[in-house]
Amino acid sequence: MYYSETVMEHFTRPRNVGVIADADGVGEVGNAVCGDIMKMYLKVDEEIISEVRFETFGCGSAIASSSMATEMIKGKTITQALAVTNQNVVDALGGLPPHKVHCSVLAQEAIKAAIDDYYERRGNRQ
Ligand code: FES
Repeated sequence: MYYSETVMEHFTRPRNVGVIADADGVGEVGNAVCGDIMKMYLKVDEEIISEVRFETFGCGSAIASSSMATEMIKGKTITQALAVTNQNVVDALGGLPPHKVHCSVLAQEAIKAAIDDYYERRGNRQ
């Protein structure tokens, strides 16, 4: 099985791990087949993602994907973050083995879920 150096690096030293207690948006997604779960927390400042953290209870590829995804959306606008696809994450990681591509899908879904939650909360405050 092949894992790129970048995957190994993000797996062994994941960036932005943790919780944001006063997050503006939180998204939790899971994969029913493998049972892995990913949770993403966002702070949003005037449509810019000023802070992002994650907790992933899952495989190494899921952890590396979450770590990379958080790096890719930090400091970006909501629109830019929504445009990040799982393929972008895979490419940034230098590839994932075919049977591990679904792990990167969790990252894309977690970003979207957290942004959905942000919009929902904001709507509720109006
Ligand atoms: Fe399911 Fe990686 S094996 S997320």
